[in-house]
Amino acid sequence: MRFMVTGGAGFIGSNLAFALKQQGHDVVVVDDFSSGHYKNLIGFTGEVVTMDMARIEELAEVESLLPLDGIFHQAAITDTTVMDQKRMMKVNNDAFRHLLEWAVEKEIPVVYASSAGVYGNSPAPNRVDQGLLPENIYGFSKYAMDMTARSFMERHPEQRIVGLRYFNVYGPGESHKGHAASMVYQLYHQILAGKRPRLFKHGEQKRDFIYVTDIVQANLRAMFSEGDVSGVYNVGTGTARTFNDMIAIICRELATENTVEYIDNPYAFYQNHTEADISATQGRLGYRPEYTFEAGIAAYLKALQSAR
Ligand SMILES: NC(=O)c1ccc[n+]([C@@H]2O[C@H](COP(=O)([O-])OP(=O)(O)OC[C@H]3O[C@@H](n4cnc5c(N)ncnc54)[C@H](O)[C@@H]3O)[C@@H](O)[C@H]2O)c1
Repeated sequence: MRFMVTGGAGFIGSNLAFALKQQGHDVVVVDDFSSGHYKNLIGFTGEVVTMDMARIEELAEVESLLPLDGIFHQAAITDTTVMDQKRMMKVNNDAFRHLLEWAVEKEIPVVYASSAGVYGNSPAPNRVDQGLLPENIYGFSKYAMDMTARSFMERHPEQRIVGLRYFNVYGPGESHKGHAASMVYQLYHQILAGKRPRLFKHGEQKRDFIYVTDIVQANLRAMFSEGDVSGVYNVGTGTARTFNDMIAIICRELATENTVEYIDNPYAFYQNHTEADISATQGRLGYRPEYTFEAGIAAYLKALQSAR
């Protein structure tokens, strides 16, 4: 089968593109290389097309990608500190709308990346239809994508459209993200450099941290599960862990001492507790997270160490 992965030069998109290739599929990566990195695609043997998804409605070139059996839409502005509302909405929501229009016309199933950012600081556990209170324009753009998707699902019930709200993803392929890379990545490098890891007081804030291999699994299930699975789903582990846990696991893996420095949190908005309710993801998509936080960090650090 032939699949398009938008944002395929990015962290999650590149992991997905490799996994699809490994399953024997024909894969075309579409990316504008605005934040992704070519190094994520070294060893990738499919096609790579440089295309700005925000201009998809003007691009005749998109037709040349046909035939397609499915689209995995990962392309987005992913830096949550970007405050340009117009740009964020155009790239994240409007491009998605045009992509959906095209996909519906061509009858191509779409699985797209949403985010736990739609929940803002709502109380955990986060349920798909509750507490939709995004606290920044990034979270709002993902909320708008989900509303767009739901409208298309209602009007085109025959069309497969699946939204996946990723929680805090970590794993190989994120180094290009700089300050937006996961805290596992940041803290590992701080500790490795012999620096004292720094956490906002007192490190007990909780997140549902999810290893990228499980994100890939959710995408594959969303595309290949039998029956009508259109909808919006959470993708996390279903368990929240603290930043103190993260440091303890990294230190244990590196056989080093834990010397955390706790600092004041300068942010007015900060999520204190996220935790995915994954009952529908498990029930309808058959998704089973395979990596505990301990196993995910161990696998990730092994990959980081072998890449050095
Ligand atoms: N990493 C996480 O923790 C996380 C959490 C929730 C949701 N998500 C979502 O998952 C998806 C992938 O995120 P990621 O972490 O891999 O980020 P990333 O920044 O590594 O990947 C995004 C990719 O999209 C590309 N891109 C951006 N604008 C584009 C455009 N107009 N046209 C074509 N390509 C474009 C970038 O060049 C990049 O390669 C995004 O939609 C993001 O919002 C990620």
